[in-house]
Amino acid sequence: MAGHALRGVPTLACSHACPETAIPWGLQAHLMFTPLTNCTEDPLTESTSPTDSPLISIVFHSGNGHTTEMSRAVARGASAAGNVSVVEHQISDADFKGGRWQNDDVLSRLDASDAIIFGSPTYMGGVSAQLKSFMDSTSSRYLQRKWVDKIAAAFTVSGLPSGDKHNMLLTCATFEMQHGMIWVGVAESPVTGDGYNRLGFFFGAAGQALFEPPSEAPSAEDKRTGEMLGRRVATLTRRLYDTRRT
Ligand SMILES: Cc1cc2nc3c(=O)[nH]c(=O)nc-3n(C[C@H](O)[C@H](O)[C@H](O)COP(=O)(O)O)c2cc1C
Repeated sequence: MAGHALRGVPTLACSHACPETAIPWGLQAHLMFTPLTNCTEDPLTESTSPTDSPLISIVFHSGNGHTTEMSRAVARGASAAGNVSVVEHQISDADFKGGRWQNDDVLSRLDASDAIIFGSPTYMGGVSAQLKSFMDSTSSRYLQRKWVDKIAAAFTVSGLPSGDKHNMLLTCATFEMQHGMIWVGVAESPVTGDGYNRLGFFFGAAGQALFEPPSEAPSAEDKRTGEMLGRRVATLTRRLYDTRRT
């Protein structure tokens, strides 16, 4: 598997409150280590900790906070799977130079990740321009085949029950296929009646939110769907990671 944060790039450590932690590339990181053995009072620590766990990165954009809620849910689910490190990278204005997304520190961290999960709101039936700009910035990785065989997945939020979210998720899937990554979709079906995947999207986790504040939407059911996707990604990444080490 790819190198972990502890295998080449600085390790991030967080306080036990585990809030969104300022990190040098100007993005938000929400770190959930299991166990929290890396936590120190210093929010950013370079470490040679022997932590032996796969690294799962989430890269997402959110205009008004609804997709942030989904990202938190996906991160929670991944973390709950246990023995993985999860880092969120929220695409921010600070990443844009000359109208293009550019952040080498984040790309290096993604190089070192075992799984990458992508998210944005559905805008005009596709990914947001900010996520697309990030995607375009990865063409050097594509040429070097750097992300081949990493696990990948996606999530989105849109205002309508469908809202053409499928096209957004397909764009992410196509992007990951170009990189040679291994796509993981949503396993839960609404037919079980458990409240998972109520919107019936299998290419990725889907939430719905329009004018409600992010504290109210996406719904608890949608966020549980995000958690399940995160958990699935983490479980499969862990299995692959262990297989590759033996
Ligand atoms: C520019 C723009 C385009 C949008 N396009 C769609 C769309 O195609 N389908 C849809 O259902 N909702 C659409 N919406 C609504 C957003 O997807 C929705 O409000 C979402 O919750 C925003 O997430 P955010 O708060 O993370 O930015 C659009 C909103 C904006 C601002």
